[in-house]
This record gives sequence, C-alpha cells and structure tokens, in this order.
Amino acid sequence: MGLFSRDIETFEQLFLHSLKDIYYAEKRIAETLPKLVESASSRELKRGLQTHLKETEGQIERLDEVFALLGEEPKGTKCKGIEGILGEGDELVGNIADKKVMDAAIIASAQAVEHYEITRYGGLIAWAEEVGRADIAKIFKATLKEEVATDKALSRLAEGKVNPTAEGKPARRRTVSRRSSKTSSARKPAARRKSA
Ligand SMILES: [Fe+2]
Ligand SMILES: [Fe+2]
Repeated sequence: MGLFSRDIETFEQLFLHSLKDIYYAEKRIAETLPKLVESASSRELKRGLQTHLKETEGQIERLDEVFALLGEEPKGTKCKGIEGILGEGDELVGNIADKKVMDAAIIASAQAVEHYEITRYGGLIAWAEEVGRADIAKIFKATLKEEVATDKALSRLAEGKVNPTAEGKPARRRTVSRRSSKTSSARKPAARRKSA
C-alpha cells in the first residue's frame, strides 16, 4: 500500500489491511522471539519468552482462521510499526555487555512489542464488531487476552527480579508464574517498595 496511492477506499478494505499488517507483525515477532530467548540469561525470562513464542504461533493460526472466515488468502503487508520496534530493541540489546542489564532491556523491548499488539488487536476488535463480525472479534479477543497477560507477566518479572538484579540488588520477591498470577496480589510488593 502506497501512502498516497489511496488504494484503501472502504472500511472493509481498511480492516483487511490491518489484518494483513498484524499478520506480518506476528510472523516477525515469531522470528524474533527465539533470538531474545537466546540473549536472555534469566531462566524465568527465557521460559516466559518461550511460552509466548508458542502462543504467538497459535495467534498466527488464529489469523489464518480469520482470513478463511473472510474468504481471503492469508497474506501479510509490511508493518513499519513492528519493524521499528523490533529494530530498536535489537539495536539496544546488541549494545549491552552486561547480561543482567540486558535482561532488563529485553523485557522493556518485549513489552513495547506487547503494547503495540494490544493497540492493534483493540482496534481490530472494535472494527470487527462494527462490521457485525462477532465471530472474528471473539478470535481477536482470545489473542488480546494472551498479549495482556504476557505484558503483565513481564512487568512482574521486571519489577520483582530483573530490574533490581540489573541494579545489583537482591530480588524483591519471588516471581509468580502466569498460571498462578490471577490469585496473587501482584501489586502489593510495589506498595511496600514505596514505603521502604
Ligand atoms: Fe502476538
Ligand atoms: Fe505478543
């Protein structure tokens, strides 16, 4: 799509363009996550990124399903947004010598990716609902839930362990797994930190 060629005329075409955009983005993320797993030194971070790689592969399959529901061939269109975010993360991580500091940078970069995805899926859900495709919105919602959970898990890992470790301090608390996090009071340690 050229910026000034105006080849998107209808709302449906805009929707399809965004679908192709996120399809491209998810595929680039799936290509990048193994590199982050390799660069990470925290075992929990490695595990978390691996889990999200599996989820991302499932998310790509969900997008294949959406293309099929629309009677379209699954196809990506270059997403400049994700290229920028991934490129910046790559540059940042490549500039860090200290492994512990690198873990903090990996989390920050991964969260930038999650936030991008959260924005995109939020828009896609709204548009799918607008055009009366609740079936497609439901598929996007399943993915959005995973992106939000990943973002939260990364925050917990950063705040509880990776950031203090990068600063040369002991971990603040035991980190919690994503599965058990629903019942945990994840924000309490932050409150303790403030008063410390
Ligand atoms: Fe994703
Ligand atoms: Fe993601």
